Amino acid sequence: MNTIPLLQLALDYTSLPKALVMAALVAPEVDIIEIGTPLCKAAGLDAIKAIREICPDKLILADFKTPDVGGLEATMAFDAGADMITVIGGAALATVEQAYAVAQERGKVMLMELTGVRDIVARATEWRRIGIDRIVYHREWDAQSAGREWSVEDKIIIRQLIDMGYKVTVTGGLTLDLLPFFADVPATVLICGRGIREAPDPRAAARQMRLAIADIWSGSSSAAQLSHSTSPTIDRAAKAIRWGISEMGLALTVDGRDCPGCNAADRFCHGSRTDIRVPAGLNSQQFINQLITNMDHGESQAVGVGDNGSFYLDVGALTQLNEKNVLGLLSATSIALQRVGQPTNTRAAMTAAHEILSE
Ligand code: 5RP
Repeated sequence: MNTIPLLQLALDYTSLPKALVMAALVAPEVDIIEIGTPLCKAAGLDAIKAIREICPDKLILADFKTPDVGGLEATMAFDAGADMITVIGGAALATVEQAYAVAQERGKVMLMELTGVRDIVARATEWRRIGIDRIVYHREWDAQSAGREWSVEDKIIIRQLIDMGYKVTVTGGLTLDLLPFFADVPATVLICGRGIREAPDPRAAARQMRLAIADIWSGSSSAAQLSHSTSPTIDRAAKAIRWGISEMGLALTVDGRDCPGCNAADRFCHGSRTDIRVPAGLNSQQFINQLITNMDHGESQAVGVGDNGSFYLDVGALTQLNEKNVLGLLSATSIALQRVGQPTNTRAAMTAAHEILSE
């Protein structure tokens, strides 16, 4: 039987709140979550820690593409919660050795990243001699936008690497349509970033991709299991916000002690807006400024200043009402709280909201 490649989601974001939303949405449908190089640069080790918190049971890869100081960068990534790191193919052999030694000591994984490497087989032969057995074969973004297509020559090199003993990850603009082209290549991991993140329903796209991988590499037919998700109603989205906010440790301005419950007709909370108290001791304006900085225009329209130091999240003011945008409000709130020194439980908030949106 053929081995089915794992699916890795690449989070190439510059905003940590956005990355957290995508991780929370898509994690159940993928095997590995990659903290993409732009996210590593924008949010550093905080990104690894936050994704680890959101996805405690997933493999996490930090795509550092480390060029130097291999041992230290590997240690930093693993200490923060990563399971795997990448080292750029152009790095000195000493850098590769040092990063690899740390990975071996810690029972973690180090992969060589072939971005920009021209003499692939010669370098790969050198790395094999020091024990490296994982490699990322990459059609780079910039090469792709300059017109580089996947070709039969790529597959020949990938097969050569596999014959040399490498487990090969394939990446670079992979889409559902491109998968059949790789059907005769026993890759270990396939990475998909934009093909999932930019889909109208990223979770469904990831699920479809994973099922297609299973179909193609094992011959089974699972396409019928595809799920169709729908937009939440305003009521459900507002309920998801209230529950997420409570899990975060924040209090609503409504005193809910005698409320008959969210699903009762005479419940205390009505409409699309949730009013939330800024925690005692925090400067509310500073907090709200921080909150809005974390959001894009579509989301920040859904935030406002309430009475007596409160703020509100109004799902009715979102430009598009979907799970991603609802979770986005919670993720931005959670990151803003952390940035003003208030401990919060992002994972619990996202999980609670996701469960309500899936009811
Ligand atoms: C860019 C990367 C990307 O993470 C990788 O190319 C996957 O992203 P996409 O599927 O969007 O091409 O490493 O250097």
